[in-house]
Amino acid sequence: MTNAVIRSSGLWTPPESVSNDELVACYNNWVERWNRDNADAIASGQTEPKAPSSSGFIEKASGIKSRYTIDKAGVLDIDRMRPQVRRRADDEISVMAEAGLAAAREALERAGRDPADVDGVICSATTMQRTYPCIAIEIQHALGIDGFGYDMSVACSSGTFGLINAINAIETGQARSILLVTPEITTPQLNFRDRDSHFIFGDVAVAFLIERADLAEGGWSILGSRMKTVYSNNIRSNFGFMNACENPEPAFEDRYFVQEGRKVFKEVCPMVAELILDQLQSMQLAANDMKRLWLHQANINMNLMIARKVFDREFSEDEAPVILDEFANTAGAGSLVAFHRHSDGFAPGEKGLLCSFGAGYSIGSVIVEKRAA
Ligand code: COA
Repeated sequence: MTNAVIRSSGLWTPPESVSNDELVACYNNWVERWNRDNADAIASGQTEPKAPSSSGFIEKASGIKSRYTIDKAGVLDIDRMRPQVRRRADDEISVMAEAGLAAAREALERAGRDPADVDGVICSATTMQRTYPCIAIEIQHALGIDGFGYDMSVACSSGTFGLINAINAIETGQARSILLVTPEITTPQLNFRDRDSHFIFGDVAVAFLIERADLAEGGWSILGSRMKTVYSNNIRSNFGFMNACENPEPAFEDRYFVQEGRKVFKEVCPMVAELILDQLQSMQLAANDMKRLWLHQANINMNLMIARKVFDREFSEDEAPVILDEFANTAGAGSLVAFHRHSDGFAPGEKGLLCSFGAGYSIGSVIVEKRAA
C-alpha cells in the first residue's frame, strides 16, 4: 500500500449534447450534397459515392448514444462540421483550463479543501490547446495555488498515467496534495466528415484530488499501479506545430484522428486483460476481490470482452459500469469519469480497479481500496 489517497473527484460537462440521430442527420445531409456535387465524377467512375451513416450502426458497434461537445451548432452545421470557439485574448483563461478548473473546483469542494491545501496541479490530456504556458499553470494560477503545475500527455491513458504521477509526487514527498486535471476537449480532433469515426469522441473534464494518507480522511487508498506502452500505428494523429513546416504541407483533413478500429479492438483487449490479471496475481489478489472495474470508455464491446476475461464469469453492469452511452469516448478521461459517476456503495476495505487503454498503445491500471470515513 502507498501513502497516497484519492480523496475526491469532480466533473465538468459541456452544457450541450448531440444525439446519434442529430449527428447522423447532419452527416447524411452533407453526404447527399457531396454526392450531388460530385455526380459527374461518380458517374464516370473517377470517385466512389459516399455511403450514409446510421444511428443503429453506431449504437451497436460502439454503445455510444450521445456525446457532449463544446459547440453543438458548429458540429451540426454542414458548412462547418467542427466546433467553433471564440479566440481568447492572451490574458483570458483558455478553453481547456476553464473546463479543467470547473472540475478541479468540484473536486476541492467535495473534499472540503481549499486551494491553499494543494501543492501542485498536473494537467494530463490527449491534446493540449497550446504548448505553453502550461494549461496546468493556468489552472494553478486561477486557483491561487502556491506550488507547481505541469502538463503531460499519453493519449487515452493520460488520466491514469497522470494519476500515477500524482501518486508518485506524494510518495516522494514532492507534495502533500495534488490536483490531477484531465480536460479532454476531443471533438476538435474528430473529422465529422469521416463515416468511420465521426461518432467516436465527446468533450468532458474530470479532476481528482490526491492527498497524503495521514492528512486525509476517507477516500481511497492506492494499493498498486501499472503502466505499459507498446508502439502501434493503428490509432494516430499527425497534428502538431511541425505541420506548418512540413514539405509538402499536409492537407487539413490529414491532421485528424484516424484509426484501424478492428485491429485496435483485436490487439488491445487481450493486452489489457493480461496486464490486469498479471497485476492482480503479483499483488496476491483475485479478480473477485475487485468489486468494480472502472474501465476506459471507448467501446462497449471492448469493455464486455475485457471484463469477461478478467472475471472469468458473467458479471453485472454494476461490476463494470458504462458511461460512454452518454459521453462517448472521452479519451484519457473515460475511466476517471466512470469512477466519478460510479464509486458509491463501497464498504471500507472493498477494492476496485481503474484501467485505461488506447493509443500508443498505452495501458494504465490503478487498484484502490475504500477507506473508513
Ligand atoms: N454507419 C454505418 N455503417 C458504418 C459506419 C457508420 N458510421 N461506419 C462503418 N460502417 C460500416 C462499414 O462500412 C462496414 O461495412 P461492410 O461490412 O459492408 O464493409 C461495417 O460497418 C463494419 O465497419 P468496421 O469499421 O469494421 O466497424 P467495427 O465493427 O469495427 O466498429 C468501431 C467500428 C470504431 C466502433 C470499432 O472498431 C471500435 O470501437 N474499435 C476500437 C476503438 C478504440 O478503442 N479506439 C481507441 C481510441 S481511443
